Amino acid sequence: MKTPPDSHAMPATLASLTGQGVEAIDTPALVIDLDAMERNLARMAAFARTHGMRLRPHAKMHKSAALAALQMQAGAVGVCVQKTSEAEALATAGVTDLYISNEVIDPAKLQRVATLAQRLQAAGGRLAIAVDSLEGIARLAAAVEGRAAGAAQTLVDVFVEIDVGQGRCGVPPGEAAVVLAQAIAAHDGLRFAGLQAYHGRAQHQRGVDERRHAIALAAQAVQRTRALIEAAGLPLPLVTGAGTGTFALETASGVWGELQAGSYLFMDADYAANVHDPAQPAFEHALFIKSQVISAGATHAVCDAGHKSHAIDSGLPRVHALPGQGAMTFANGGDEHGILHLAEAGGELPKIGDTVWLIPGHCDPTVNLHDGLIGVRGGLAQGTVERIIRVDARGALT
Ligand SMILES: Cc1ncc(COP(=O)(O)O)c(C=O)c1O
Repeated sequence: MKTPPDSHAMPATLASLTGQGVEAIDTPALVIDLDAMERNLARMAAFARTHGMRLRPHAKMHKSAALAALQMQAGAVGVCVQKTSEAEALATAGVTDLYISNEVIDPAKLQRVATLAQRLQAAGGRLAIAVDSLEGIARLAAAVEGRAAGAAQTLVDVFVEIDVGQGRCGVPPGEAAVVLAQAIAAHDGLRFAGLQAYHGRAQHQRGVDERRHAIALAAQAVQRTRALIEAAGLPLPLVTGAGTGTFALETASGVWGELQAGSYLFMDADYAANVHDPAQPAFEHALFIKSQVISAGATHAVCDAGHKSHAIDSGLPRVHALPGQGAMTFANGGDEHGILHLAEAGGELPKIGDTVWLIPGHCDPTVNLHDGLIGVRGGLAQGTVERIIRVDARGALT
């Protein structure tokens, strides 16, 4: 895959930052510590390589073709997305190997899926998608096989999603998955690619033992399903799943062949609250909100970053104190403000104009609030803006 340009159609205010010191970044802004991100990238790539696992990071997290390209240069086989429009945005920006790890049902959307599959195939890439119903398979097949006469046959890789504990999409493990695998195999335009088995809820269970237990049950469910599918005479090429909270457990089980972790690249505050599993690499925070104090009093200071600059579904941001700064807590100040208190007696509140760095609670929906990610080299205190990374699939919800 070609490395896409860093900043096509970027807002001029962001694009003009390249080469300037970190102090030139207007606030609030979403900033990547490139050194930390590259260490995370290398650690995950090394883990996958060492354990013989395919790595297909989830790009729902960064929504950026430039970061997908970095992940693929480091060994990823491609990336996952959740939405048709995310897949289209990343394909337009140069990504050619995409897996929509989600159900797409609407016939008009499935026409777009089929068009995209054809486009990626023509570019030497491929599109894969998940299903969890016979209706979904019939609709997908109708879109893929109903192309204009004379057009080359499009082949879409299709994963059957089983619910291994999340209680979201997916058929129950077992016989229901066999029925879907057989239905896929009956279509010329579809290829049964394996099982999608992602346990989202296990990712954020705090204790290592809780996570281990959840993934052990999931592994049993996958094994049981695999045995039934193979007994029905269908080869099962791949089991795909796993996120940043549990991927070492899926790896150790020997049941999964592909890891979909995404958040490891940026590492948000919620993931940092998990008890660390020594079997997996330690990741550093690499995504920050740069904010500035706009009001300061005797009891608290107020910064210019509220809910419009960061998501709060997984909790409020944490203050990232730089050396010399006292520890502070962040309280909800509404859409445009954050309230800062000293975490310990004896410290000094920041003054008007001071910079305060925040670690978002949840990286995915935070990134979706921004046009671009400002990549800083050399640290947050004194670094330089090296590149602006466009959020290609910002707002791609359909
Ligand atoms: C289907 C699927 N796979 C993988 C992931 C990646 O998880 P994380 O970003 O937590 O590593 C997600 C995240 O929600 C997901 O929904």
